[in-house]
Amino acid sequence: MGITIKTPEDIEKMRVACRLAGEVLDYITAFVKPGITTEALDKLCHDYMVDVQGCIPAPLNYAPPGYAPYPKSICASINHQVCHGIPNDRPLKKGDIVNLDITTIKDGWHGDSSRMFIVGEASILAKRLCAVTHECLWIGIDRVRPGGRLGDIGAAIQHHAEAAGFSVVREFCGHGIGANFHEDPQVLHYGKAATGPVLEPGMIFTIEPMINAGKAAISELPDGWTIVTRDRSLSAQWEHTILVTERGHEVLTLSAGAPPRPSTLP
Ligand code: MF3
Ligand code: CO
Ligand code: CO
Repeated sequence: MGITIKTPEDIEKMRVACRLAGEVLDYITAFVKPGITTEALDKLCHDYMVDVQGCIPAPLNYAPPGYAPYPKSICASINHQVCHGIPNDRPLKKGDIVNLDITTIKDGWHGDSSRMFIVGEASILAKRLCAVTHECLWIGIDRVRPGGRLGDIGAAIQHHAEAAGFSVVREFCGHGIGANFHEDPQVLHYGKAATGPVLEPGMIFTIEPMINAGKAAISELPDGWTIVTRDRSLSAQWEHTILVTERGHEVLTLSAGAPPRPSTLP
């Protein structure tokens, strides 16, 4: 299909959809506590998107080729779950780490963002994995500029994750986004700098590294969606939707409550 270049009008609509995705994460933050179920978080996010924001939750009934329709409105991936965890009736417990992944559709345009949440107090390893993965996201974002190459992003992320002793999931990647949930290009979170497509103003894609505390290998659960680490080690993920601008980039899914670019980065 090729990488679409968004027009100024498209970009304005993407700014709205993306900010709304960030605002769902802001809204749900106060509810992520020991005892709440991910099903309850799903319902709260669904109702906020539909009734307050006037959005469609993109995951609900989403069915890419080879997949059964996704049954819920958000993804909630706990501990060794890498991504696409389906909200259920098990309560969160102190020490869990959970990724909530929100994709809104507003006026036909998609905004996609996810964050990690620490339930109560987590282990030093769990906290470090969440922090390093957040750094990986921003190290990737730092590489986004016109004339840069897509491979610059993955190479920087892989280097940072592996220097910390962690591993990068290979089977899932960031993606172009706009009128479609998933479009070209594929944004790998590993690879070689100075390779891949040249970045141009008007491109919009996600960066969403999945980083494992143990080995990189994953498996899919029998529900056909949930991805887990094969060695059952912890996994973390953070996601933003990014626009390539004339001068660099704009992080479209930033919202008032989004954790800022880590001050620990150079
Ligand atoms: N939001 C995920 C992403 O970042 C995709 C979820 S697909 C779903 O690409 F169907 F599981 F919701
Ligand atoms: Co995404
Ligand atoms: Co997402």
